Amino acid sequence: MCGIIGCVSKENCYEKLLAGMKRLEYRGYDSAGVALLSDGKFAVRKRRGGVSGIAGAPLCGDTGIGHTRWATHGKPSDRNAHPHVAGKFALVHNGIVENHARLRAELEAEGESFLSETDSEVIVRLIARLYEGDFFAAVAAACARLEGSYAIAVLCSDCPGEIVCARQKSPLVAGAAEDALYVCSDIPALCGAASYIAPAADGEFIRIAEGKIAFLDAQGREIPKTFSRVEPCAAAETGTGSFMEREIAAIPRALEDTLAALRRTDFAPCARVLRGAGKIFAVACGTALHAALAFKDAVEGEVGVPVLAHPASEFRYRDPLVGEGDLVVAVSQSGETADTLEAARLAKARGAYVLSVTNIAHSSLAQEADFNIAMRAGAEIAVAATKSYNCQLLCLYYLAAQLCFFRKTRFPAWFAELGTLPAAAREAFGCFAQMNELAARLQGAQGMYFIGRDSDVRTAAEGALKVKEIAYLFAEGYCAGELKHGTLALIEEGFPVFAVATRRALAKKCENTLAEVSSRGAYTVLFSQYEDVLAESCADAVCRLPAVCERLMPVVAVIPLQYFACRMCVLRGYDPDKPRNLAKSVTVE
Ligand code: AGP
Repeated sequence: MCGIIGCVSKENCYEKLLAGMKRLEYRGYDSAGVALLSDGKFAVRKRRGGVSGIAGAPLCGDTGIGHTRWATHGKPSDRNAHPHVAGKFALVHNGIVENHARLRAELEAEGESFLSETDSEVIVRLIARLYEGDFFAAVAAACARLEGSYAIAVLCSDCPGEIVCARQKSPLVAGAAEDALYVCSDIPALCGAASYIAPAADGEFIRIAEGKIAFLDAQGREIPKTFSRVEPCAAAETGTGSFMEREIAAIPRALEDTLAALRRTDFAPCARVLRGAGKIFAVACGTALHAALAFKDAVEGEVGVPVLAHPASEFRYRDPLVGEGDLVVAVSQSGETADTLEAARLAKARGAYVLSVTNIAHSSLAQEADFNIAMRAGAEIAVAATKSYNCQLLCLYYLAAQLCFFRKTRFPAWFAELGTLPAAAREAFGCFAQMNELAARLQGAQGMYFIGRDSDVRTAAEGALKVKEIAYLFAEGYCAGELKHGTLALIEEGFPVFAVATRRALAKKCENTLAEVSSRGAYTVLFSQYEDVLAESCADAVCRLPAVCERLMPVVAVIPLQYFACRMCVLRGYDPDKPRNLAKSVTVE
């Protein structure tokens, strides 16, 4: 949440900051702002709303900071927009200062007046109070007083060409290009700007000064770092339409790239753990949690070993039964989700082996895990996850197959069919015309259910999450058999129920549920790859999915639902890329 960027450029840095902020905007779009330093003075422009709202005549300065906000403390407003300025300092912040109220009271007692309701303003006022001529020392001393999470970038009007940054539990990365040096919240936001990057670890500081980037500890001692080349951004997201539509269109290619990367991945370093781990856990949030649950289904079904799948936010606070010799699979597109990171840290602290599945190779989670599977979904800009989900499923099925190999000395029968998924995903686009019609028909619905059994419940849950997230419609993903235990009471004339039935053995059971809701007036839609299942259904509409082996079906069956949600969103008049109240990378609890 919140994107921060800093830039020291050989020329004016205004356009570079704005371009970076555009790339960071998926981290928050409640407000945007920049501060540039020129001739010992700050030029600040900040406003409620997205980055386009602050575009205009360039501000002057070769050193600057920028911010895209996802509001936590203080409502979205011009006043609460970053950067915050106090005396000789300007600051942007991502995170939450948990002791802000106490610090604010202390500073007010010392005569400080605050201009915003944010927790962040406390930091800049503290720095200004502690400044005795040493910029870095003032920032380090202020950070020592903070509790909570922060990634900050600070300018000092006494120090042209200098930015001091600090990281504690919020991502921060430095980037170098020929003509500029950067700090930023996100690696993808530096893609196309910087050629080399190096992430900071918790407790570390970054100082850009005299044309160099230095990583420092709190005492100002330099920490050696290796910079890695930034991989080029995926190009398929260029084009017209929303990012979400383009990202759905990129699913086949993302699957191809991910499969190629998986085939190059050497699992030997974690063979001992895959073979011998005691308990197996899977932790994740939101969409990634649905992928983790599909992993549970696959491992339990193919390997016969139980997998305990938990929302990361629950795992970390429930004193989980994880310990020495266990395996924890942590799934996260961004690799920066605070709850998933903390769950992985807790597991490591208790002696478990952490295997992560991330889309960002240098993300915090990838760095901290014992082993990382790097998927190749390419940059995902829309807040709603689409192609990353399909790729997470692919990676996790691949991992389930490795577990099967290491425990049973054979791969599951479907392992050879992973290569059919990109073509099947492309074939699933054939359902889109029908999804357009359904979205047009159902756009005025008050709510809807998505139901299924076994792994189809994961698809149903993901379809429902997408509809909630971007079409702002109550939707629930439900086990078909559970409906009659209470929820059926909500079915009335015209209530839409989408059923996913891709397991032949369970299709009849799903059909029975459809009959039960149909006879109570529901408008029903059935998704299956089986012609006979569709032909014999009482559903009002049927959608034929591509034929894929049942275990791998969630990778493909979700595609029409992702597209349906996107169309519902557009028809209901919303922007699919920037759902209200949300941001892509959830780096606060
Ligand atoms: C999905 O559409 C959401 N934007 C959200 O549930 C997301 O998947 C979740 O916040 C986890 O993010 P991560 O994969 O980056 O950890």
